[in-house]
Amino acid sequence: MTRSIRPLVAGNWKMNGLRAELAIAAEVAKGYAPELKNKVDLAICPPASLLFMTSAALIGTRIATGGQDCSIQEAGAFTGEISAAMLADAGASYAIVGHSERRTLHGETNAIVKEKAQASQKALLVPIVCVGETKDEREAGRALAIVRKQLRGSVPDGATAATLVIAYEPVWAIGTGLTPTPQDVAEMHEAIRAELGKLLGKSVAAGVRLLYGGSVKPSNAAELMNVAHVDGALVGGASLKAEDFLAIAKACA
Ligand code: PGA
Repeated sequence: MTRSIRPLVAGNWKMNGLRAELAIAAEVAKGYAPELKNKVDLAICPPASLLFMTSAALIGTRIATGGQDCSIQEAGAFTGEISAAMLADAGASYAIVGHSERRTLHGETNAIVKEKAQASQKALLVPIVCVGETKDEREAGRALAIVRKQLRGSVPDGATAATLVIAYEPVWAIGTGLTPTPQDVAEMHEAIRAELGKLLGKSVAAGVRLLYGGSVKPSNAAELMNVAHVDGALVGGASLKAEDFLAIAKACA
């Protein structure tokens, strides 16, 4: 298909991966052939412990790396936290912020997610801001309203197409094998683009990459990636297998 926006396929390894798993990144790099490189951007977001080594292993491959979260603070007495500048220093280009697992397990509100996105931008990282409704919210017919509210609360002011990526990840689709219908994804992504238009201006919104995430795998990637306003994928489980991750990337090409 012809795309006006260069797609991005980002792998979110979550809390998976020891040094042995650097082999996955190496395998992805090996399979990132010129015809794919010409059409699709790739990023790998390993656990923080592997970020520096993954970034180093991927130098010269044009595969970016990213963190999975960052602190709202720049530095100081915040035990266990990692600043955006530290992620950048470890070679990252992106930071996933507001993933539903962070929102749910760590009580991250839209306001906190916005601060994290701003902290990322300050460190010259591109935040991948995650939004998405729960099963109950979808069943109550509130999915669009919830996601619009998340966008209004968590998208940093003044963001541009070069400094922001949005990932729509329905909470009920993450790690469950369930996915929304292409029609539902189309409706949501169109609504996201329209809301961003109100927040950032139409011409900026037109260029922001909108990723779909939640149980993306080789068998459903083509269907999901060919939906209008879907500019790539945020991939969890399937990103831990180089072959599957590459197959998903190919579905975007
Ligand atoms: P999944 O996770 O692909 O395993 O559903 C996606 C995500 O949480 O980013």
